[in-house]
Amino acid sequence: MRFFIDTAKIEDIRTAADQGLIDGVTTNPTLLSREGGDWRDRAKEILEVVKGPVSLEVVAEDAAGMILQAHDLKKMGDNVVVKIPMTPEGLKAVKTLSSEGIDTNVTLIFSPLQALLAAKAGGTYVSPFIGRLDAIAENGMSLVEDIRTIFDNYGFTAKILVASVRHPMHVLEAALIGADVATVPFAVLQQFVHHPLTDKGLASFLGDWKKLTGGKW
Ligand code: G3P
Repeated sequence: MRFFIDTAKIEDIRTAADQGLIDGVTTNPTLLSREGGDWRDRAKEILEVVKGPVSLEVVAEDAAGMILQAHDLKKMGDNVVVKIPMTPEGLKAVKTLSSEGIDTNVTLIFSPLQALLAAKAGGTYVSPFIGRLDAIAENGMSLVEDIRTIFDNYGFTAKILVASVRHPMHVLEAALIGADVATVPFAVLQQFVHHPLTDKGLASFLGDWKKLTGGKW
């Protein structure tokens, strides 16, 4: 399973990249807006740090506008994945961009049929938003299961990119289902790293080493 980091915060992207935790990045207008400044500068910084797929989102609402913005985004780097919302116009844009060989990430997916349509249109990634479904008492993980079943039934090669992740169990369950990628906030990625028994074990090893050598090497 690949991990992307779901942020536009460059310091967190650098830290996670240095830890070897991430294969790519997803952003959206909200995440870029949180960081402020010039979004193009921010996107360029991210593309300098991460050589894997970096999702940058269009904001046009008509297919022609989305395609123009997609071409503009692609000039920033070969590894740019164009994020397109799951709308009727978005599907048209995905179909055209797919025929041009441009990778897309179809975002704001909340139902299995939306995912099926995104895959049929030629989307490279489809992004079910599981945390937002859980928040309204629907089951985000069932959506991931349904999409996995549909894609396997028909041999769709679109990658399931689990988004709107809130905690480590989301990622563990998505991995067990066979989702291809999870895009994870920095804080949740750091939760994977830590375990109280690791901390306890290390403290004990270091204490014993100190008894043996006074703490010297
Ligand atoms: O970037 C897409 C998605 O992961 C954002 O989810 O619900 O945390 O805004 P959310």
